Amino acid sequence: MCGIIGYIGNKNVSEVLFHGLYSLEYRGYDSAGMAISDGKDLKITKCVGRVSNLEDKYKKDNNKGFFGIAHTRWATNGGASLENAHPHSVGKVTLVHNGIIENADNIKLSLIDKGYSFSSETDSEVIAAFLDNELKNNNILNSIQVMRKELKGSYALGIIIEGEECIYAVRKDSPLLIGVNRNEFFLASDIAAILKYTNKYFLLDEGETAVLERNDYKVYRDEKIIHKDIITTDSKSQSLDKFDYEHFMLKEIMEEPIVLKNLIDSYKNGDNIKYYDISNYEEVHIVACGSAMYAGLIGQALIEEEANIKVNVYAASEYRYKKKIFNLKTLVILVSQSGETADTIAAMREVKEMNIPTLGIINNPNSTMARECDYVILINAGVEVAVATTKAYINQVCVLALIAYTTSLKKGLSNDVSISEFESIPNLLHDVLNNTFIYEEIAKDLYEHNNCFFIGRGIDYAICMEGSLKLKEVSYIHSEAYQAGELKHGTISLIEKGIPVIAVMSDRFLKDKTLSNLKETLARGAYGIVITTSELDDFKDFRKVTLPSVNSFCQSLLIVPTLQLISYYVSLYRGCDIDKPKNLAKSVTVE
Ligand code: G6P
Repeated sequence: MCGIIGYIGNKNVSEVLFHGLYSLEYRGYDSAGMAISDGKDLKITKCVGRVSNLEDKYKKDNNKGFFGIAHTRWATNGGASLENAHPHSVGKVTLVHNGIIENADNIKLSLIDKGYSFSSETDSEVIAAFLDNELKNNNILNSIQVMRKELKGSYALGIIIEGEECIYAVRKDSPLLIGVNRNEFFLASDIAAILKYTNKYFLLDEGETAVLERNDYKVYRDEKIIHKDIITTDSKSQSLDKFDYEHFMLKEIMEEPIVLKNLIDSYKNGDNIKYYDISNYEEVHIVACGSAMYAGLIGQALIEEEANIKVNVYAASEYRYKKKIFNLKTLVILVSQSGETADTIAAMREVKEMNIPTLGIINNPNSTMARECDYVILINAGVEVAVATTKAYINQVCVLALIAYTTSLKKGLSNDVSISEFESIPNLLHDVLNNTFIYEEIAKDLYEHNNCFFIGRGIDYAICMEGSLKLKEVSYIHSEAYQAGELKHGTISLIEKGIPVIAVMSDRFLKDKTLSNLKETLARGAYGIVITTSELDDFKDFRKVTLPSVNSFCQSLLIVPTLQLISYYVSLYRGCDIDKPKNLAKSVTVE
């Protein structure tokens, strides 16, 4: 994953780089580092852990320079150590890298034969050595061309060459954009890192090399200078303030009524309304990763049940390599908050190659997927900072629910639900979220356990998948989501005295079935917790959450936020790093 940022200009370089690193930290926080140069001296500072550690370690006198590159790392090749932190310097070359080089081991061996030695375990140091070796016989532009031919895998690179007063930028399959302003230039993995300074940028394409100089920049393709159109984004630099909230996760959960309202309003205004009607298709593949895939499972339940279209949901990491069987009328829906998840992008490109239409449900409007999908519905959840997704997930589910709704209306299948029922959800959710006492009580029941189960059937099972993922992501409690009826086919052997089993029961046809399965676990000593709706609530003697009963399109929009809040409080009581759980990254830009 990793985030990279570079700057050349008259501002205080470290300030620009630190600002960029903080806004890129969602891409990884195993280590951080920066290199600042005045063209003669290059000063490198690195640390293990967060950007704040780097700031503590950074000495202000390092800032004698007018250009620099910086990096925040999510470890891939080699652990989170100082040696593996970027920037990496070999000979004349210093660079920061986001991506993975698949043939780094072979290249490394041939460089060792040539006399190079390595101090880190990273593939990135291999790139630095490779370029340094090429520079012995070539200029930098040609060396980069040779590198392009030899390296397999993905990379976005910011490169400084000893004695030169510029930054080189190249990329393949990892995002990289160039920000432009009067007499100052930026490179960044994400526009958010530079929006404070400029909203003008262009995207570097594969095969291009940008050279950022003090008062000018050039872009080369095959040694020829080319023109790039500048894009002006109207996205505002979004506040990364937690306001009165202790954590971003809590703030973002509490924002769900607002982002849902905005989304439903824009649907009512007719924004991209034609993409919500998929009645022309006979089959849908929903492809995504993590929570976005679990949003897809809810979409599957609703589109099949309400709009009568066959839907399969796939993990993008599997889908990209599997044989794909398409009906002539297949639509592939790609769901992604970031629009930069490597596996989902690869799946999208595979499908496009096969001339199958792609619809992206995406949060980041400037992302690779927002640019490349045939059709796009933006979920407009705003910037999400906490690594565990909450408000973006909810708006993904809402878009899928609106697709099911629009399509079922078009097919004349769901005439009894009106859009005003969707419009009532934000207010209902607001009340549900404010009832924090019950979520805190349930969290107290859970937080000292090491194992937990979620059970449900049909759409409730899809909800359980997300509830269970959220709990393990932020609290590190081992949790399993099970189709309630499947538990007794093996997994029930894990039920022992006191183990919490959370049963989601919102489907009136399946409630009694799930209740029987819950009782099977209680008979073996489990501690049952029920999440249900006012219409179905005849549960006695259970710790329970009872939610307003709404139509089936919207019910999950009230249930999942309660599970998010329970996970939040469990994590709080366990003293975990809620917004930056260990080992995770928000945007997974490597395979
Ligand atoms: C990471 C995040 C998850 C997210 C998944 C897919 O694993 O931690 O919260 O659901 O990536 O991300 P995307 O940006 O494609 O929705």
